[in-house]
Amino acid sequence: MLIGASMLGDGASGYPANVTDRSQHPDSRADSATIESMTIPGRVAAAALLASLDPPAWFLAHVRAVAEVAGFLAARVAANGTAVDRSLVEAAALLHDVDKILPADDPVRRLGHGHGSAAWLTKQGHPELARSVAAHPLTRLADGDAYRRWAAFASREERIVAYADKRAGQRLESMAARFTSWRRRYPDGWDELTWRAVRSRAERLESEVCRAAGITPAEVRRLPWTAAAIRAARADSTAR
Ligand SMILES: [Fe+2]
Repeated sequence: MLIGASMLGDGASGYPANVTDRSQHPDSRADSATIESMTIPGRVAAAALLASLDPPAWFLAHVRAVAEVAGFLAARVAANGTAVDRSLVEAAALLHDVDKILPADDPVRRLGHGHGSAAWLTKQGHPELARSVAAHPLTRLADGDAYRRWAAFASREERIVAYADKRAGQRLESMAARFTSWRRRYPDGWDELTWRAVRSRAERLESEVCRAAGITPAEVRRLPWTAAAIRAARADSTAR
């Protein structure tokens, strides 16, 4: 397969090809106000949605790490000359795992991990986050046909969120370390052949995203944006 920046989105995904970089807008704290993207929450709105679920500390550490890795990657992809919706990437990454902390009897949990988060966010009025959130789980890399269909049409935003989740557990780590911890936690999950196929698809994703960002995997960092957003969301809710 050819690997290159063009692999990070071909316009066939349904996302606009030339979205603006809203996180650089002076009013990026507020919800995006443009008509074509009014359902994408800004940083503080995304943090407020997360806070509404009263996330436990372990969960918050993970989603903050993923959101900051994703934010860094999106910023580098944009700086490297490829249009990317940074607000969508940041919000989807912060909210990608929400189905894990919904009440056990919430019906969207029955949809399975990823799809549950997508359905919950759609119900909250943010359907534009659904695809990036639904595509992130590691299990999406296990079925070769499903992976090829996704890889053919996934937007750059979807790829960045999916890759960021493969670089952060409680903190930024290498993909090798992440795989070691997954295999320790799920020793009976897949046979050796499937693990190898999943790993090689994840490595392909890593190559595509890092190439578009103009960096090596070792140069991935966190863009520290979540603490301020969470603080502002808490201040907004106590002021109400
Ligand atoms: Fe995650």
